[in-house]
Amino acid sequence: MAEEVQGQAAEASESSEATIAVHWREEGYYTPPPKFIGQANASDPAIVDRFSEENFPECFKEYADLLSWDHYWHTTLDTSNAPFWRWFVGGKLNASYNCVDRHLARDRNKAALIFVPEPEGEAHAAITYQELYRRVNEFASLLRDLGVQAGDRVTLHMPMVPELPVTMLACARLGAVHSQVFAGFSGGAAGHRIADSGSKILITMDSYYRSGDLLDHKVKADEAVEAARKEGQEVEKVLVWRRYPGQYSSKTAMVEGRDFFVDELLAGHHGAVVAPVSLPAEAPLFLMYTSGTTGRPKGAQHSIGGYLAYVTGTSKYYQDIHPEDTYWCMADIGWITGHSYIVYGPLSLGTTSVIYEGTPNYPDAGRPWRIAQQLGVTIFHTSPTAIRMLRKVGPDQPARYDYHFKHMTTVGEPIEPEVYRWYYETVGKGEAVIVDTWWQTETGGFIGTGLPAINPMKPGSCGPAALGVYLEILDENGDPIPRGSGKAGNITARNPWPGIMQTIWGQPERFVSTYYAKYNKDPDSKDWRDWPYFAGDGAVQAPDGYFRILGRVDDVINVAGHRLGTKELESSALAVQEVAEAAAVPVIDDVRGRVVEMYVSLKPGYSASAEIEAKVKTAIETDIGKIARPKNIWIVPDMPKTRSGKIMRRVIAATSNFADVGDITTLANPEVVEQIRHQVQAAKVSRGEVPRELTEAEEAEIKAFGSE
Ligand code: WTA
Repeated sequence: MAEEVQGQAAEASESSEATIAVHWREEGYYTPPPKFIGQANASDPAIVDRFSEENFPECFKEYADLLSWDHYWHTTLDTSNAPFWRWFVGGKLNASYNCVDRHLARDRNKAALIFVPEPEGEAHAAITYQELYRRVNEFASLLRDLGVQAGDRVTLHMPMVPELPVTMLACARLGAVHSQVFAGFSGGAAGHRIADSGSKILITMDSYYRSGDLLDHKVKADEAVEAARKEGQEVEKVLVWRRYPGQYSSKTAMVEGRDFFVDELLAGHHGAVVAPVSLPAEAPLFLMYTSGTTGRPKGAQHSIGGYLAYVTGTSKYYQDIHPEDTYWCMADIGWITGHSYIVYGPLSLGTTSVIYEGTPNYPDAGRPWRIAQQLGVTIFHTSPTAIRMLRKVGPDQPARYDYHFKHMTTVGEPIEPEVYRWYYETVGKGEAVIVDTWWQTETGGFIGTGLPAINPMKPGSCGPAALGVYLEILDENGDPIPRGSGKAGNITARNPWPGIMQTIWGQPERFVSTYYAKYNKDPDSKDWRDWPYFAGDGAVQAPDGYFRILGRVDDVINVAGHRLGTKELESSALAVQEVAEAAAVPVIDDVRGRVVEMYVSLKPGYSASAEIEAKVKTAIETDIGKIARPKNIWIVPDMPKTRSGKIMRRVIAATSNFADVGDITTLANPEVVEQIRHQVQAAKVSRGEVPRELTEAEEAEIKAFGSE
């Protein structure tokens, strides 16, 4: 059993302009159970030395050697075009071969995927490695016949079904670059991403289950094609998987000559075998779009060799995946977590990866634990939002089920220590280690997290830097903030690692300016030491070296672990005819971490109405998706502004959170602050939406919001 060690109280500290004030109590440690240590893939601390800086970059050979290469690589890291890093240069391989074919000899009959449909009456479907091989080959053959070739981009807008990894792996087999868009995003959002990537093919599904309803998903394909066309990109073919093959579950008409049912086309590819295309390690494997500070989403481009090596290595050492494990990550494959830690990492290691279609609390809060019991899940992976929600709606449910996790993961948002403790004690029954994994779409895999058998766990901290990644907190001037100083700053990685994105698709200058320009002093340097990676998160480092991530320092709002750009939200609102100005701000939420509230002011001649509020909501849902729907739309007489006309987002963020609005003497219209405060807070009080008191870190985040 784990033993709790008492920690010490951290020093409170003052903050400068450049840093964020953080005052928090140091949490006690949990140590991993001896039973876990005994079986762990990484239990010898010597591994940390093997990945120390004097062994960089050659240390990553250890990850690359987990893969099967057609041609072995000659150069571990080529920095000649910094910061466009090239890993394992000279190597050739295929990702689909690595995730499927190479496991056949030993594990042909083992389940690669277990699909758990949302309706509990529907049987689970186990797909063996042999079956996966067959399905990937047949679908690759279908794509090849449609003319898909290495380097082509193919957009996927698919739900959580096994057809999604089949589609990804079929693209990878041909060397086509898949770009999967989260199914919860709107057709319009898929359309922008189709246009940005230049995809001519869209692959979707007719329907899927969510919270008990069979949703019509094909309707979004028509909207996506239309939105892409407006941006000059013609979609030639829409391939529609059917949730129930042979039966169409959407009301939307199929477009003659453009739309095809995949199950019908597949009939012509029965038993087809497609040789995996051998590709350079630095060829792109996929794009994953994410939000940033401008309205245009960024397509993070990931490589075949570097990315696959990194997610395989981190799956082995941090997820502690063994061949006999049943591994369940409850994230969505539409996000980077699902790409790296449902599909590529686990399948490359030849494990059994569970895919659950629906919402965690459907039909009740015992569902995840029932699934865990039924399948004998040993490794469980989810987000703080899901943990908070399950804790709220079913705190006693885990105890009712007979399952035993050895390992659990949390990802995507900071986790509150008390939520962490419930995860540890109640979900993990005190038997499972927890890894809190800090990373991003851009980083490909975990970069801040502990080795589960080596580093004790500390609630609320992601832990130390991952193997071979040298994290450092810098202040605004680029000076390091020492560990234990109690001061927060910008977390950076001093070096590249194989999983880091290669570029932003079609926007190489944005890649450099967003992630590297801030701390690079010599743009001509070919030395990786001159190119710290700026992650866009604030963090503090405790005396023990553990990092605590505080949240975004840019204008990105992390809603339930999903990144939403304020500019994207605002430009949707501004498209509503009556709206003159819009500002999106985060509101602290006990379940979803943060939610969005939108403030709008109207053009002259219009007055506030429920109808305009509804229009703004609809605009955001149409452009981005339901996940971005603001909790409240506040139509205000005017926005608080600086004398130069800039909207002071921190002032409205403070208002929405009942926090201190701070110094408003520099505003052009300070009187409006009190007016808005009265309007918003009175409405919130009457709706019972008064938030709990904020922690100091949360206060600091609100104060810093929109300050750039
Ligand atoms: C946040 C998700 C605290 C962070 C993998 C980051 C976290 C953003 C953690 C990336 C964590 C991710 N603790 N915060 N363990 N993991 N974040 O691109 O702000 O969807 O920058 O990737 O989520 O979100 P993304």
